[in-house]
Amino acid sequence: MVSRQIWIVDFGSQYTQLITRKTRELGHSSEIMTVKQAKERFKNGLKPGALVLSGGPDSVSEDKENYHEFFNQENLAVLGICYGMQIMAREFGGKVEKGLLGEYGHTKIHATNGFNIPGVKGDLEVWMSHFDTVTEAPKGFKRAMESHNKVLAAMVHESQPIMGLQFHPEVDHSEGGKEILSYFYEKLAGLEKDWDESEMLKEATALVQSIGDGNVLCAFSGGVDSLVAATLAHKVLGNKLHCFFVDNGLLRPQDHGHIKTLQEHTDLNITVLDSKEVFYKKLHGVDDPEKKRKAIGVTFIEVFEEQVHAYEKDRGIHFTHLLQGTLYPDVIESISPHEKDGKSVTIKSHHNVGGLPERMKLKLLEPLRFLFKDEVRRLGEELGLKYEWVHRHPFPGPGIGVRILGEVTPERVLKVQSSDQILFEELHRQNFYEATWQAFTVLLPVKTVGVKGDARAYEEVICVRMVNSGDGMTATWTDAPRELLSTVSSRICNEVKGVTRVVYDITSKPPGTIEWE
Ligand code: XMP
Repeated sequence: MVSRQIWIVDFGSQYTQLITRKTRELGHSSEIMTVKQAKERFKNGLKPGALVLSGGPDSVSEDKENYHEFFNQENLAVLGICYGMQIMAREFGGKVEKGLLGEYGHTKIHATNGFNIPGVKGDLEVWMSHFDTVTEAPKGFKRAMESHNKVLAAMVHESQPIMGLQFHPEVDHSEGGKEILSYFYEKLAGLEKDWDESEMLKEATALVQSIGDGNVLCAFSGGVDSLVAATLAHKVLGNKLHCFFVDNGLLRPQDHGHIKTLQEHTDLNITVLDSKEVFYKKLHGVDDPEKKRKAIGVTFIEVFEEQVHAYEKDRGIHFTHLLQGTLYPDVIESISPHEKDGKSVTIKSHHNVGGLPERMKLKLLEPLRFLFKDEVRRLGEELGLKYEWVHRHPFPGPGIGVRILGEVTPERVLKVQSSDQILFEELHRQNFYEATWQAFTVLLPVKTVGVKGDARAYEEVICVRMVNSGDGMTATWTDAPRELLSTVSSRICNEVKGVTRVVYDITSKPPGTIEWE
């Protein structure tokens, strides 16, 4: 295990991963861990260069656990963000009060008492998301920043490298966030930079090399993550790597074309497993989003296991490892970070990190597990992959299954496939593909009245969604050109059978998620 300079203790905030992101952008390595893991490390005499305590969904007044070891390490720099600041205030004898209503959104704050952060001046609009507030800073702390209505926004210890922030500096929407984090790491904690992008390839390659001798199989989707993971692994493993692409019947026409291109233009050994009928059968009558996700995940595992065993028998080989393009956000989401009381803040059950390895008795090989999406893209380019392959829009593991609200049937699949095809043709034709981070269509489970020809129609609704994002953790809806929206809308109504209305989704994340299910 590579040791990281900064430990980020996760109290269950939706933004914890963004702290790592921002920390890396500032040139420092960090890792996220649970409260329990951090406490164990301190107990074993380990100590980080700096400790960051994340935000969290709970109320400090209901949290009976003590966190003394986070605050009583000699000279350890500690940054508490939101919930982290509240436990800090409680620990040092300040006053934390429960708000009647939560505060979510932008707030203006400014420095007080001569507090000065290089590069930061005047009013800052920052992102707040909290229930409790520190109404009295503890003794020994100075009020460093306040909101206009005098809510304490930042406090700094007068003699120790300890700082608390009520807002989220890690969120892009927080002005001055990067400067404030940099101030903490470099001025308060006195850390030297220890992370740059060349570390990514070295670490990932070392991880693949560490498996020694063995045959590796890859659940290959053709998306950026599995493509980069497979290309990297292929460089080390050569023909010991076998990729399998499951056609679950929930793909778009462009996905089939893409796999064919990769089969023809890369050295990867890719086998397509045609399993459409099995998936449709398993999805028959399922309309609950979570049940649908689970059904797709379980069927994927069953199909994969059966067909891969047949392949092993046929070729006389035995697979020892499963290569997955798992990224850091998936890892964090899947380990239930808030394990101190067994609670997790899972919003959606993720398809990718299923029970496959246990079922097939395979060891996991996840060379990208410490990376975020944009980092993986840069790594892909470094490995020589074509620009358009590593800059494809993300496409979720459960495919258009999570874009068909209500039951998945072959007819409804076709509606999404056809409308998606139109959207992508127009995105390319009107030169807008790169201007949005992800674009897709969703079939809604409602019918509306329309006029087709001269007759009344009573048909379904397609929603077009386009978002801009850095890593999918937060997103804003794309302000798409009127001409694009208008062409897409009229083409879908005219060309897709059974659709009379097209709507455009103008919800950002949060509060919406990117996918509808
Ligand atoms: P949400 O809907 O959670 O999506 O805001 C964030 C990003 O993740 C993709 N997504 C998935 N990707 N398996 C995946 O591989 C999944 O189960 C899954 N669910 C959502 C989504 O397309 C967006 O890019």
